[in-house]
Amino acid sequence: MSFKNKEQLSQKINEALLGGGQHRIDSQHKKGKLTARERIHFLLDEGSFEEIGMLVTHRSTDFGLDKEKYPGDGVVTGYGHINGRLVYVFSQDFTVFGGSLSETHANKICRVMDMALQNGAPVIGLNDSGGARIQEGVSSLGGYADIFYRNTMASGVVPQISAIMGPCAGGAVYSPAITDFTLMVENTSYMFVTGPNVVKTVTHEQVSSEELGGAFTHATKSGVTHFTCANEVQAITYIKKLLSFMPQNCEEEPFQLPYTATEELRPNLNTILPDNVSQPYDVRDVISQVADTESFFEVHKDFAENIVIGFARLAGKSIGIVANQPMTLAGVLDIHASKKAARFVRFCDCFNIPLLVLEDVPGFLPGTDQEWNGIITNGAKLLYAFCEATVPRITVILRKAYGGAYDVMNSKHIGADMNYAWPNAEIAVMGAKGAAEIIFKREIAGAADHQQKWQEKEAEYSEIFANPYRAAERGFIDEVIEPAETRNKLIKAFKMLNKKVVNNPRKKHGNIPL
Ligand code: HXC
Repeated sequence: MSFKNKEQLSQKINEALLGGGQHRIDSQHKKGKLTARERIHFLLDEGSFEEIGMLVTHRSTDFGLDKEKYPGDGVVTGYGHINGRLVYVFSQDFTVFGGSLSETHANKICRVMDMALQNGAPVIGLNDSGGARIQEGVSSLGGYADIFYRNTMASGVVPQISAIMGPCAGGAVYSPAITDFTLMVENTSYMFVTGPNVVKTVTHEQVSSEELGGAFTHATKSGVTHFTCANEVQAITYIKKLLSFMPQNCEEEPFQLPYTATEELRPNLNTILPDNVSQPYDVRDVISQVADTESFFEVHKDFAENIVIGFARLAGKSIGIVANQPMTLAGVLDIHASKKAARFVRFCDCFNIPLLVLEDVPGFLPGTDQEWNGIITNGAKLLYAFCEATVPRITVILRKAYGGAYDVMNSKHIGADMNYAWPNAEIAVMGAKGAAEIIFKREIAGAADHQQKWQEKEAEYSEIFANPYRAAERGFIDEVIEPAETRNKLIKAFKMLNKKVVNNPRKKHGNIPL
């Protein structure tokens, strides 16, 4: 380089690259954490990162802040590529004021979000922050609100992913909460609205940060995080994988892998269901036989395990799978399962990802806990999400499809395009035992041997409804298929639906039961 003031430029760049200084970088590493720049390095294709606003500093003067400035002001922002695809990224730098959010720090984040929206590309946030820059007061709070507003405007337009790689407390949690997927790193990240000290003062509960808002807690109890990751590198790998199933924005189709069609039967599926209809099995075994080899990427794995959701590929094309899981609570629908699946269905619908439902559901979970906590409103979320989804939608009833859950789980009546059933499917208002008890109550009571009469009537009800043929006669099921044929059928049907267009009635927006 031979221009004037070359040294000045190098010095400023070097200063920015050092963030809050080497001693703070060392202390970040000692905690087992990467720096903001190292994270970006692992995330983006080599050499693709272009930084924006490297030399921005805060404008605060209170509490002596005018004498303490760091170029970049605690967040590294810019754009780059992941597997050749454009993404915008912000990565909070804990070495600068603990990654806390100042007005200018927020402006930098807003800038990349605005550009992502204007240019139709995903936004990835790598969060590691002590929250609002305490010295800035309301300017910082305003900065948060500016980000929340943009998160909301971008929702459904471009994919947004949040990785939590350190603290994320106070109102700061609401940005990740609005984004599409949240990942947390075990042992080094936590999220809560109020920390352990405030909790102790207000509710007298004694709880550690990890227990209150660590990765495990949010993966299993609250469902706030979709993924827990053993370390930051794994979190970054998951982000890349997630993105591989998504389009750049809502106007585009998801990225498709090359695939040469072959007619393949999957004979294992013919014997996958246990002989006893009450016996559990792992629906993931069905998924792995149906989807392209090892393509299933499970989301929200440790939360509401009675429903399995995730992305997979079918003949190279991205699909979203929602499957009841007979291994947990017999695959019943409850509040958590309904919320988990509803949000996923809506994500897929936003981003043109076709939906496959694998159904084996005994109904909704009974009980005061469920009723008092709103299974009605929450179950309605899943119903609503399917009803409004316009992407190609296919259901395969593997075994049970009982009661309201039959309607909810992507039935033809609520807009599914193709519905298949395996020959062992049972489609009825309820299980035969319960049904017999209700409708043959008097006959059973009047019989000399109640038990025998009950069994007789149970068998009678089963004979009529414990099969898929009543539903097929009415066209509620398009085809009863041999299980081994499932993959072939789905490939053909999704291909047939590839150009599906459905326009829901024009409205400002619907009012999903929240
Ligand atoms: C300014 C902050 C800061 C903050 C940390 N620092 N948080 N500076 N504003 N919010 C600075 C520290 O002074 C310190 O500076 C450096 O960052 C590292 O912090 P440490 O405390 O040394 O690190 P550690 O022990 O790892 O603890 C991290 C921490 C703790 C748990 C995040 O710093 C902490 O509790 N911070 C305050 C958290 C908080 O209450 N934030 C406001 C939440 S309310 P030096 O110079 O020593 O390196 C909120 C409202 C948002 O965010 C509302 C939006 C709607």
